[in-house]
Amino acid sequence: MITATASTLTMNEDIFKQLRDFIYEKTGIYVPDNKKYFLENRLSRIVKEKNFRGYEDYLHFLKYSAQRNDIARLFDAITTNETFFFREPQQFEVFSNNLVPQIIKENVQMGRKDIKIWSAACSTGEEPYTIGMILLEKTELVSIRKEIYASDISESVLMSARKAMYGNYSVRNIPPQYMAKYFKDSGGIYVLSDIVKSMVKFMNINLIEEKEVKQLKGIDVVFCRNVLIYFDDKAKKKAVSLIYDVLRPKGYLFVGTSESLHNITRAFRPTVINKVVVYQKV
Ligand SMILES: C[S@@+](CC[C@H](N)C(=O)[O-])C[C@H]1O[C@@H](n2cnc3c(N)ncnc32)[C@H](O)[C@@H]1O
Repeated sequence: MITATASTLTMNEDIFKQLRDFIYEKTGIYVPDNKKYFLENRLSRIVKEKNFRGYEDYLHFLKYSAQRNDIARLFDAITTNETFFFREPQQFEVFSNNLVPQIIKENVQMGRKDIKIWSAACSTGEEPYTIGMILLEKTELVSIRKEIYASDISESVLMSARKAMYGNYSVRNIPPQYMAKYFKDSGGIYVLSDIVKSMVKFMNINLIEEKEVKQLKGIDVVFCRNVLIYFDDKAKKKAVSLIYDVLRPKGYLFVGTSESLHNITRAFRPTVINKVVVYQKV
């Protein structure tokens, strides 16, 4: 039975578990037993807007007649998209000062005049654009082709990322010299310069879908930060093994500073550089 509170519809346990399993199968995102309120908060609006009689009808619709855009709407609703520029800056320092010079040296030795980076759950774009600005600041990369791929499962964050217009919250950690060089203040909205925008190719990639991830290959460094925390171990293992396959030999992987791949994979060697853990493909 469905009862309406001020604005949120309540869900019964059985439907909660079925919806939770459906979401898990599609995305790897695991909603634990004690977080029924999370799905109620996120999905109530869709149920009301689409005039379903309740979550049971919505679940039936999702399972048997939803179109691509309906599934996309579900993904938009259930993902958590918190991000900002220069998040976890120690990782970017290690990337810029230690990994990039090493990668360029190795790639040039192999006859490659490029560097390929993938921001694997890019949300509204702050992470790949931070990487873009960092690469632009490195004079040794002037004649190196810089390819940045950025992907997410949520179409609405990708749309916002492509616009590259940001509020105060997103830009608060950007060093002043980057702010002055790469942003224009348009009445409190910070507009990113075209030179950085044009470096990043945005794509819709689900990290647990092999054929979507396989569009990429030969990546030097993957940033997969603050997304695996929403997955259970099985989904983490799947995503990490797909990431492994798109990395070039000895390529690098960053996960969020609060995350670990302990017990998830032995295919990466954790290395500590200046107190930052970097995973290297073995
Ligand atoms: C908290 S944000 C992290 C953004 C950025 N990496 C950072 O650390 O600031 C997590 C992102 O992961 C995305 N996401 C969740 N499940 C995903 C999946 N299965 N495949 C790809 N992206 C996913 C969400 O849409 C969300 O934008």
